[in-house]
Amino acid sequence: MEIRGSVAIVTGSSRGIGRATASMLADAGSKVVLNARKKTEALLAVADALGPPSRIHVAPGDVCDFETCRGIVRSATDRFGRVDILVNNAGIFGLRPMVEMEPDDWEAIFRVHVFGAFNMIRQVLPGMVERRRGVIVNIASFVAVRPPGPGRVHYAAAKSALLGLTRALGLEVAGTGVRVAGVAPGLTDTEIVRQGLPNLSERVARVPLGRMATAGEVAHTVRFVIENEFSGDGFRLGRRMTLDAIYDLGIDFFGSTNGFLTTVASRAPAEVAIVSRVPSFANRIGTQA
Ligand SMILES: NC(=O)c1ccc[n+]([C@@H]2O[C@H](COP(=O)([O-])OP(=O)(O)OC[C@H]3O[C@@H](n4cnc5c(N)ncnc54)[C@H](OP(=O)(O)O)[C@@H]3O)[C@@H](O)[C@H]2O)c1
Repeated sequence: MEIRGSVAIVTGSSRGIGRATASMLADAGSKVVLNARKKTEALLAVADALGPPSRIHVAPGDVCDFETCRGIVRSATDRFGRVDILVNNAGIFGLRPMVEMEPDDWEAIFRVHVFGAFNMIRQVLPGMVERRRGVIVNIASFVAVRPPGPGRVHYAAAKSALLGLTRALGLEVAGTGVRVAGVAPGLTDTEIVRQGLPNLSERVARVPLGRMATAGEVAHTVRFVIENEFSGDGFRLGRRMTLDAIYDLGIDFFGSTNGFLTTVASRAPAEVAIVSRVPSFANRIGTQA
């Protein structure tokens, strides 16, 4: 989808990956709806930084709550008329070994990452299907596509559920003009990581490039999945320009498009394997080296 002229909601855009994604979308010509739990100074500062009030709208609210999400989407459509792009980015993180896990820890993680995504999707999808136009990008995590470290069972389970939601919804709405994709960032330099991860330098040393991804680099991947339909020459071109670089930072993406379920997993900088449940598509694209 062309970003210029679109209307986008980015949940959790008061800082980090969400802020960078909102900024990328605004720079690319989208009207952007910003969100975080509360209307804080930080959220208003992002709005000020991103552009004139005529193009930026602030819609605070906790994505864990279904009715609140109805209000966020209503306020977006009242302001800009429709929603073309939804980026489900809002998230929390915490380390807790399973033997100490409390039901509240488990529920809190699922509420924001899984219920939050459902709540927002349920509000925007009918309009997208009706207009036959929409892209939904779910920000998952590398823990959903690669082995996670200890203390992340709740987080990995929730992000894996988000991955399943992405794949299943992509198939369900195939042919409606709505695309559903996911981006699974590796270690990215944001508050969630700086506050939530011990032994950060050791973990960073294991990243092929020897540094964390920046929020801007994840936003660039989000742009890639919004703009590219992953088919034919468009995919190949995009892959050559982008995937080699994002692999080095451990960012994966996956999604469905044009009726095909596509999982893209980078295993080495020069090799991109595309797995599809649609044999003709898998044969056409195959494994590119
Ligand atoms: N950083 C990484 O290494 C990494 C790796 C993989 C995946 N991710 C995922 O990327 C996403 C963004 O992470 P980040 O690193 O940018 O984190 P971050 O800097 O902590 O930002 C999280 C954002 O989500 C908002 N938020 C949290 N709970 C919310 C809720 N219930 N309703 C609405 N907004 C809420 C926060 O705003 P308020 O606190 O003001 O509400 C903030 O704007 C998350 O889904 C995370 O799981 C991050």
